[in-house]
Amino acid sequence: MDILSTLQLQSILNACNLNIEVMSTATTTGYQFFDLKVSLPTKIADLNRYRKDIGLALGNSNINMNVMADKKIVRLELFNEMKPENLMDVKCAVHMHTLDQVSYKGATYPIVLGKTFNNEYLDLDIKDSNHILIGGATGAGKTVLLKSIINQLLDYRVRRDAVIDIIDTKCVDYQYLRGVENVRLFNSVDNANKCLDYYLAKLEALKLGAPRLLQFLIIDELADLIISAKHSVIYDKLLKLIQQCRAFGIYVIAATQRPSADIVDGKIKANFPTRIALRTASAIDSRVILDCAGAELLKNKGEAIIRSPSHNNVHFQGFYL
Ligand SMILES: Nc1ncnc2c1ncn2[C@@H]1O[C@H](COP(=O)(O)OP(=O)(O)OP(=O)(O)O)[C@@H](O)[C@H]1O
Ligand SMILES: [Mg+2]
Repeated sequence: MDILSTLQLQSILNACNLNIEVMSTATTTGYQFFDLKVSLPTKIADLNRYRKDIGLALGNSNINMNVMADKKIVRLELFNEMKPENLMDVKCAVHMHTLDQVSYKGATYPIVLGKTFNNEYLDLDIKDSNHILIGGATGAGKTVLLKSIINQLLDYRVRRDAVIDIIDTKCVDYQYLRGVENVRLFNSVDNANKCLDYYLAKLEALKLGAPRLLQFLIIDELADLIISAKHSVIYDKLLKLIQQCRAFGIYVIAATQRPSADIVDGKIKANFPTRIALRTASAIDSRVILDCAGAELLKNKGEAIIRSPSHNNVHFQGFYL
């Protein structure tokens, strides 16, 4: 669907005899917003009643309505399927220039995840955000988000001698990193178990004063580990690691298709200060990640909501790499 002008929408509203003024429009990745001033005798219920007609006239049935009482407006959101040119836009954005801008703010390990719906970059300082948990239904964009993070961490590998370990029991998505210096892949539950042993031994050495290293442990599909045959052993090791390694420059970034309470229980959750929900299968899953519903309504692939020490449920569109 093409970008609509305020005039087009205004003429449709007039034709429906609605006393509504189109105040402004804005576009962001995947969405176009219209801010409307509804005046009596027209009521919001009248606008709602004509929603399907408006959709028909605009050629877009993906319309949401939000009453923004504080701004005394109704915001109409039209959802557009992502077009390749939109994807290019975000693709070009992960750029050293962006990273430099973020570093400029004094961040220690900055990464950029995408763009907010106010068209600002969504950036994180991993030092503050600490362990990150990503939850979302199958196909919502967890692996793509992890890859966009890993691509930026590769830079730390060069600049800070960081090590990146990836546990990927599906064995398909990260094979392109095989052989890359300072990147290790663990492709089975047994190997994941060994990887956790390595980290726990490292932790003990660090506690005794061994020199610190910057290490990132990426886990794509946490559920595969937690429900595996060795679950209780692996669960205990993982919990110990995430509870204790935070102070030592070891950061865990994990994703799961099953953000249900049996996988992400209270203890696991409490140790991931930063949590990101892509589209979830249900409101219950959204609550597990964000402590509130909402992620089940996300539409785009890569569209997400983040809560972290510095973001209070911020809505953004993740980069596509
Ligand atoms: N940020 C994005 N922008 C545009 N398209 C995306 C984005 N993220 C994901 N996609 C599309 O969605 C597809 C599925 O994404 P991805 O493999 O990351 O899902 P997933 O959540 O890891 O699924 P699974 O749980 O099955 O592993 C991608 O191949 C890509 O085509
Ligand atoms: Mg995946």
